[in-house]
Amino acid sequence: HPRRELAGKRLLVTAAGTREPIDPVRYLGNRSSGKMGYALAQAAAARGAEVILISGPSGLPVPPGITIKRVETAAEMHNAVLADFDAVDIVIKAAAVADYRPELAAEQKIKKTGDTLTLSLVKNPDILYDLGQRKKRQLLIGFAAETEGLIEHAQEKLRKKNLDMIVANDVTLPGAGFNLDTNIVKLVHRNGMVEALPLQSKQQVAEIILDKICAMLTNST
Ligand code: PMT
Repeated sequence: HPRRELAGKRLLVTAAGTREPIDPVRYLGNRSSGKMGYALAQAAAARGAEVILISGPSGLPVPPGITIKRVETAAEMHNAVLADFDAVDIVIKAAAVADYRPELAAEQKIKKTGDTLTLSLVKNPDILYDLGQRKKRQLLIGFAAETEGLIEHAQEKLRKKNLDMIVANDVTLPGAGFNLDTNIVKLVHRNGMVEALPLQSKQQVAEIILDKICAMLTNST
């Protein structure tokens, strides 16, 4: 990158979905591939940042020069993110974290007995909410994956989780969201400003998000 504008900065990115075990062979998951988060990690490293990528299961290659920490469950991601939080300057949470997990993971494979099976789920910790409570100097960027009420829901998450910016994707739009090479997002800022970006590759979306982060860092010094 011509301008290594993130040199000397530490940036933590989370990517991919979590898996919440049901029994030794099954889990609750989601459709996140990690493409959005890995694109952000790669783009930040190209700008000179020291990048930690905390990733749920993903088959994507790890971009060179990046420290990867692999996790499976939301609880593991929570621990990994909190362990590094105080040492980083910027956090981008592109991961799709399960809001609920099975109350008990069965020790043995669940047998096919009754005609129905009920799983009891309990709430997972909200990682981004905890970071918003803890944050001091850090910039905190969240994502919102929505199927309705995109801007209202994103604004509510921005406020509740004390974020500096949230990247809102309407995952019902063709070309946007999970497991595609492209995305269509709206950047929602703290001051209420909303910027709609056109359909483009996840690499291009990542560059624009990093441009905004660099501008926020310049304005705050
Ligand atoms: O990985 P890809 O296939 O490329 O797909 C990209 C993506 C659609 C997963 C990505 O663009 C995206 O939208 N990621 C966030 C998905 C999500 O879980 O959104 P949410 O609205 O449920 O969560 C809001 C924010 O809170 C997110 O930043 C999430 O990481 C965070 N969160 C959510 C729940 C939780 N328990 N802890 C969290 O930190």
